[in-house]
Amino acid sequence: QTADSLYVINNFAQKFFTEQLLHTDNGKAIALSYLRERGFRDTVIDKFQLGYNPDTKDTLTKALLANQFNAELLPKTGLVSVRNNNELVDNYRGRIIFPIHNISGKIIGFGARIIGKNDHAPKYINTPENELYVKSKILYGSYFARMAIDKADECLLVEGYTDVISLHQAGIENVVASGGTSLTTDQLRLIKKYTNNLTIIYDGDNAGVKAALRGLDMALEEGLDVRLVLIPDNEDPDSYVNKVGAKAFNEFVAAAKKDFIIFQLEVMLREAGGDVTKKSNVVNQVAETLSRINRVEDFTKQQDYIRQCAGILRIDENGLTTLVNKYKR
Ligand code: CTP
Ligand code: MN
Ligand code: MN
Ligand code: MN
Ligand code: MN
Repeated sequence: QTADSLYVINNFAQKFFTEQLLHTDNGKAIALSYLRERGFRDTVIDKFQLGYNPDTKDTLTKALLANQFNAELLPKTGLVSVRNNNELVDNYRGRIIFPIHNISGKIIGFGARIIGKNDHAPKYINTPENELYVKSKILYGSYFARMAIDKADECLLVEGYTDVISLHQAGIENVVASGGTSLTTDQLRLIKKYTNNLTIIYDGDNAGVKAALRGLDMALEEGLDVRLVLIPDNEDPDSYVNKVGAKAFNEFVAAAKKDFIIFQLEVMLREAGGDVTKKSNVVNQVAETLSRINRVEDFTKQQDYIRQCAGILRIDENGLTTLVNKYKR
């Protein structure tokens, strides 16, 4: 009931935002020019239904009210916020709008990006949790990626909206974004419906590595094969593909792709250095991670990993197997 009304409101808002972006003087001068300067072409601007909320108090709010939408419901959508005096005003003023579609293409919410730099406001504002927008279940771009994921039998996971869009523009369509948050089991299950092969492409900074590692144990429990690519030099997939081009980007990803378990092991070993206690902690941690591959059909995979990890650690394979089994619940 409420969900249906929210869909209708979101649809209306998307059309409004797109109209503002493409067919108003301010939209063109401020927002469309910004998107074009960043390298987004009309094809992806159309495909992802990008838009613009003008920098005025309540242009959208007024349009919504004029169309008889339930005023009580509007704040729920995040499109409108309530001021102290109960006045309704636009929430995404002066921002570029990224509609967020569910897997069947219906708009469940929006990400709204500030134009340019501003240290006093958050870069993105997103729809608050409501009947449609459940953050832990959303993979941005899933609707546009699902056929390509199926075809490639691989899903690329990036951090942000603009990463997804720029990769599409470069012809790489099997890509979804986690929206900056760490991965959830629900998101992994959604991916698992289409493929077993997940390639995480995160920023190469510390935050990116940490975020990636947090997803590993969960992904293994879901039975996914996870590989990791870290983008170098403070770039993200969007800026990197725009810098080096589609071909070089693809080549980089193919060459830099690392098996996730091996990556984690190497990070931990590097941190341990020559310290014997630390190294023995690493062995235990790896065993614990490997023990999470606990589905019967993944048994061969687990043995394969145990062999590789034992090799890297220079320890006995049977010893590691015993340890892994000890961690199994
Ligand atoms: N994000 C968010 N709120 C913020 C910052 C980030 O929701 N204040 C989410 C967005 O989904 C964003 C993703 O985290 O796309 C990655 O963040 P970031 O790398 O900072 O932004 P980019 O996607 O790179 O956006 P841009 O290229 O426009 O700067
Ligand atoms: Mn980052
Ligand atoms: Mn970032
Ligand atoms: Mn980024
Ligand atoms: Mn970026």
